[in-house]
Amino acid sequence: MKKKIWLLCAALLAGLAAVWIWIGKGREESGEKEKHAIRLGILLYRGDDTFISNVRQALEEQAKAYEQETGIKVVLNIEDAKENQNTQNSQAERMISLGYDALCVNLVDRSMASVMIDKAMVADVPIVFFNREPVEEDLNLWEKLYYVGVSAKESAVLQGEIVVEAYRKNPLSIDLNGDGKVNYVLLEGETSHQDSLIRTEWSVQTLMDGGVPLEKLTGGIANWERSQASAFMEQWLEEFPGQIELVISNNDDMALGAVDAVQRLQITDPIHIVGIDGTPQGISALERGSLLGTVQCDRTEYAEAIITIAAALALGEEPKEKIGLEDKIYYWVGQKAMFCK
Ligand code: BGC
Repeated sequence: MKKKIWLLCAALLAGLAAVWIWIGKGREESGEKEKHAIRLGILLYRGDDTFISNVRQALEEQAKAYEQETGIKVVLNIEDAKENQNTQNSQAERMISLGYDALCVNLVDRSMASVMIDKAMVADVPIVFFNREPVEEDLNLWEKLYYVGVSAKESAVLQGEIVVEAYRKNPLSIDLNGDGKVNYVLLEGETSHQDSLIRTEWSVQTLMDGGVPLEKLTGGIANWERSQASAFMEQWLEEFPGQIELVISNNDDMALGAVDAVQRLQITDPIHIVGIDGTPQGISALERGSLLGTVQCDRTEYAEAIITIAAALALGEEPKEKIGLEDKIYYWVGQKAMFCK
């Protein structure tokens, strides 16, 4: 009798073990193998870009927050391409060959995404692009490609509205010499970047729609950089003495470059300068009164969106079940206008 009970128990245990193995196998086959850690590769076009280095810091913070919330360890490997697309392609290739679960890519050249996408597709490594938007044709090459960014048009309209509001309150605070037109100069980002062209167009359009009588003195491409913008502004201040009333800049760093030039030349006219990004550096200039305004994008939300989408893809989950997406693959980060008080 005892022997029979033992045999029955052994058979029952063997049965249970078989069922357990079978369930596990089924899960593995359907890609549901439970993961306790994910490896994400972060590829930056240029690590010393102020906006990008702020996003990088926020990504590290959000990866930690995700770990705490889910108990899933997130290993981030961050690489700087130093503005070289070939370098970035090799960095991506290496991460793909090392079996990274997903890549988060800030492209050097937004028209060159397909090389990387081809490699990622073969190895089934999803990509979340950010800040430098690949052309639509490339984003449609595969269903595991996403984009996180800010709407360039929205940033520009908000930037334009800052000036419109100040002008409506007191036209002479912007049209400094009261001649019925606002003489402005324009600082633009890289020509190849989707944000430069759209921001310029919509910022100027918003000012005109808002009834600000504009007159362009000159403009230049300062490639998002403070030092290049500062050199331009210094030259313009000498070329147009006492004439510049407004500086429209595609980002905060270039706006700060304009501030540097004004200070260096000890100009006392209250020239108004507006930026976009709301970097900590931009905000503190705003608080000091050196900028009239900026448009702040929510960095925490930016990084949280990238990590949420990348982690979902890494775990074989559907990103759209974790976060609201537009046209299935786009996430647009919120932004707000910030005024000098
Ligand atoms: C930001 C710039 C930044 C650039 C880098 C833009 O969206 O406004 O500050 O330099 O992206 O790609």
